[in-house]
Amino acid sequence: MRVLSGIQPTGNLHLGNYLGAIRNWVRMQDDMSGDSRCFFFLADLHSISVHEGREQRLANVRDMTAALIACGIDPDRSVLFNQARVPAHAELCWLLNGTARIGWLNRMTQFKDKAGKNRESASVGLYVYPVLQAADVLLYQATHVPVGEDQKQHLELTRDVALKFNTDFGVDLFTLPEPYIPKESARIMSLRDGSAKMSKSDPSDMSRINLSDDDDMLAQKIRKAKTDPEPLPGEAAGLEGRPEAQNLIGIYATLADMTPDAVCAQFGGQGFGAFKPAMADLVVAKIGPIRDRYVALRDDHAALDAILEKGAAKAAEAAAPTLRGAYDAMGLMR
Ligand code: ADP
Ligand code: TRP
Repeated sequence: MRVLSGIQPTGNLHLGNYLGAIRNWVRMQDDMSGDSRCFFFLADLHSISVHEGREQRLANVRDMTAALIACGIDPDRSVLFNQARVPAHAELCWLLNGTARIGWLNRMTQFKDKAGKNRESASVGLYVYPVLQAADVLLYQATHVPVGEDQKQHLELTRDVALKFNTDFGVDLFTLPEPYIPKESARIMSLRDGSAKMSKSDPSDMSRINLSDDDDMLAQKIRKAKTDPEPLPGEAAGLEGRPEAQNLIGIYATLADMTPDAVCAQFGGQGFGAFKPAMADLVVAKIGPIRDRYVALRDDHAALDAILEKGAAKAAEAAAPTLRGAYDAMGLMR
């Protein structure tokens, strides 16, 4: 079993990123036994698909590295690195451009969403993004790729690329990866609107819980979260049609490792005036220590760079045989 996943280094990590992605990585890392390893990386090469200045990009990579470590990714147990320091990613991406089909890329919904109406002016990088993602996964012979639902299509493309390459060149080079989408994987919604997902791009900071918020801010955001006037139901089924209530109960349940039914059983019949303080305490207890570690690490650039450099060396070593195999299979190098 080889676990691999990547995340784009965008600033401002929030509770949705933590509960929807990073916490699952930490759990997989902690469940590994023997020599099995997890590979986690910052997809900085993918971030070229949107324009960003030099300083911002450097800051985002370091920031996200600090956040991942603060959340529990251990660079001594997992291989933690940024893509750009491992040239094999860009190299294999180019080789796989010979295998991936334009028709496949044209079907990618993320491209359609992100390019919007003005497709002609989207960058080529945004279009080829899924091929780079295939290279990320195939380089390491990953078997399990923990991702959100939105990445399922990219993983299917990765399998298609792997299968076509193996078939076209008559080799058994690439392992076909499985997406791993945890069932209980949380979809955290905005605190201001239960129908919109919590996102760094929401203009209202009150809509999200940032991993950098201090305790007062965390409590204030929970206190001001949008709700409805009804008391909480005794069972989760009663949350149907109450998106804000459902979201808060969902966040509580995920952070407390309880089912929504158990949370409703505990708070059923009470109003939000009773529930919110309990929720604020829970959020502060769970997010506070992560924030403290994050804030302490964030500005230690030398330590973060050293971690990434060490991770990149391990990653490059693990990627080398597959990259060599791809060149060889294609008759580019023997
Ligand atoms: P954002 O929406 O803030 O721009 P990204 O698209 O950069 O976040 O997502 C990074 C990771 O966090 C992805 O794996 C994504 O599935 C997860 N994620 C982002 N927002 C949420 C959310 N509201 N609930 C659950 N997971 C989320
Ligand atoms: N595209 C992924 C996202 O936006 C990030 C990513 C890049 C990734 N390469 C990957 C995820 C390889 C898993 C495997 O969330």
